[in-house]
Amino acid sequence: MAIYVTGDTHGIHPYGLGSVDGFMHRLSTTVFPEQKQMTKEDYVIILGDFGGVWYTDRHSSQESSEERYALDWLESKPFTTLFVPGNHENYDRLMGCYDERLLSSWFFSAMPEVEKEKLRHGYPRKPWHGGYVRQIRPSVLMLERGDIFEIDAQYCFAFGGAQSHDISDGILDPTTFPDETRFKKEYQRRRGELVRVRGLSWWAEELPSAEEMAHGRETIQTFLSNHERIDFVFTHDAPASDKVLFGYEAEDPLTLYLEELRHWMRYGKWFYGHLHQNRRLSDTQFLLYEQIVRIH
Ligand SMILES: [Fe+2]
Repeated sequence: MAIYVTGDTHGIHPYGLGSVDGFMHRLSTTVFPEQKQMTKEDYVIILGDFGGVWYTDRHSSQESSEERYALDWLESKPFTTLFVPGNHENYDRLMGCYDERLLSSWFFSAMPEVEKEKLRHGYPRKPWHGGYVRQIRPSVLMLERGDIFEIDAQYCFAFGGAQSHDISDGILDPTTFPDETRFKKEYQRRRGELVRVRGLSWWAEELPSAEEMAHGRETIQTFLSNHERIDFVFTHDAPASDKVLFGYEAEDPLTLYLEELRHWMRYGKWFYGHLHQNRRLSDTQFLLYEQIVRIH
């Protein structure tokens, strides 16, 4: 049995977002031939910005035909894919949309009630290896925040999410516009700016809630009262001091939270993505992008 990790895939296609190669390229047999020896008892962990569940169809909560094809392709692979969520994921579809204002606004007015009800729930939430996952496919699973999973006899703490940086000109919230015409007018006016749209290309859940952070702390404390250490930590973002060393600003609640954990949590190795580089900071801190590294 083996565990491999890799960084952001940003969706399905090669070079779909900037220079990111997409999971159908990254995890193809050509790029990742190791899979020829693998089974569903072997794992590939994507460190956030998976992007396989991305599109918002305002008429339906279902996967697009392209997404369905790509996720079925991933399911057909001879390994199990796990991912922590990043800041480029459709959280409404993954974990359920809790924003009734958005659901009842003009934005979703064409969506039948039965589809809205599905959107409220997201993918099935299931217990898995000691924590909770969202089951995208039987062997394509999103690891929820703040749980410790036993994967191939390794204890793994997962905590996805990151604050987006491509929103410096703001978020357009459809619920603040009376209708689509006025929304579109404003959207056109701001063309060329770094703006994303709530429910379409940005979701507030990219950052954890206070409850999720408290849950993570509690999980670790309980675990470490009976165990020497956590083997692996998988996050999308990095602890604040690591980001500073990489030359990034790091003053947001999640990076500060991860920094706090880093100071008292006993762990073996910590892997994160988000910064779109491959760099080894120390014996314990690893930043991954398109490299696929066997860690166990
Ligand atoms: Fe990314």
